[in-house]
Amino acid sequence: MFEKGLPRKAVLGKLESELKEDFTYNSGRILGSMCTSPHQFARQVYMKCLEKNLGDPGLFCAATQLEQEAIKMLGSLLSHPNAYGHIVSGGTEANILALWAARNLAKTRRREVLAPVSAHCSFDKAANLLGLKLIKVKLNDRFQMDIKEAEKAVTKKTAAIVGVAGTTGLGVVDPIRELSEIALAHEVYFHVDAAFGGFVLPFLEELGSNVPDFDFRVPGVCSVTVDPHKMGLAPIPAGGILFRDEEMMRSISTSVPYLAGGGAEHTTISGTRSGASAIAVWALLIHLGRQGYRGVVGRCMRLTSKLVDGIRRINGVSLKTNPALNIVGITSNELDIESVAGELRRMGWAVSLFPSYIRVVVMPHVSPSHIEHFLQDLKETVEKLGG
Ligand SMILES: Cc1ncc(COP(=O)(O)O)c(C=O)c1O
Repeated sequence: MFEKGLPRKAVLGKLESELKEDFTYNSGRILGSMCTSPHQFARQVYMKCLEKNLGDPGLFCAATQLEQEAIKMLGSLLSHPNAYGHIVSGGTEANILALWAARNLAKTRRREVLAPVSAHCSFDKAANLLGLKLIKVKLNDRFQMDIKEAEKAVTKKTAAIVGVAGTTGLGVVDPIRELSEIALAHEVYFHVDAAFGGFVLPFLEELGSNVPDFDFRVPGVCSVTVDPHKMGLAPIPAGGILFRDEEMMRSISTSVPYLAGGGAEHTTISGTRSGASAIAVWALLIHLGRQGYRGVVGRCMRLTSKLVDGIRRINGVSLKTNPALNIVGITSNELDIESVAGELRRMGWAVSLFPSYIRVVVMPHVSPSHIEHFLQDLKETVEKLGG
């Protein structure tokens, strides 16, 4: 740290040059992230609310009320307008909170959690933190959690089952109804990770697609993760955790007696936490409405089809599976997919590499010309590598 501070202009100049190395969403080069450039209106609201601290609800009761309204709106999107929960730091915190509740509600001998092999690594973190044993259940040939394998894996030690609605790698939706039946039959907590899919599937359904039930319509579902900072266009950090009832949320409650606004109960991991995030989500949900989000999802899906058509025309690469969401897996029988990803990275594309495929997430910042450019570079790469 300097002894004497620098003028703002100098600091801003330095900042600009330091940040030059970062990727930007505007460039269209980020094709492997589930985040995107936050909506302009949400930025504006966020800036107005920087001092709001949801960790001290007595001081910021109006902000706390808005967070609760945002939760009810997300709940209504997921078929349960009376859900309880919070806007938290992200899908990771949301998933940890869900398993924390599951553990606290389960009998002490139940310390195992079943999740598909495709589950996000936040469940590994959660299991490690909470002293739970995570059992990864095999997938079927459609990359969903295999129901027969799940049935075999449930025992008297099972505390929770996790299903995913929009997997990180391929955007696959697990058979949530069937998993719910298993959970109900064994009286086990059932969490659905719809961190990504929660802001896509309801709108796809409204646009006329055949979407399997994945939310609180399914009776065994106890909690759902749904992240506004992914397809919800909200500024980071904004994850969402929704519980079916208050008792589930209260199972992770801690008293915080010292607060300036008076004692409170926290049901999050963070103490001090951003009111700006939650209020930006509240404002954006009201501003865009279902119609606005349908537009966003419809556009991303049209671009996904464009990408899929383009991939099908390139000899040497193929689709890992037919995408259900705006997430595309590109694989190859002839080429080493790691080399393809490496070459694309050298060309400046920020794509994700999974064990046997490259993942492209067609987020709202992606335009038709970005897709065309990417397809050209993919074709060139495949030809260069001998496909
Ligand atoms: C399905 C799913 N769940 C949870 C997460 C974790 O979210 P975050 O990175 O916001 O913690 C991700 C991240 O990509 C995800 O794909």
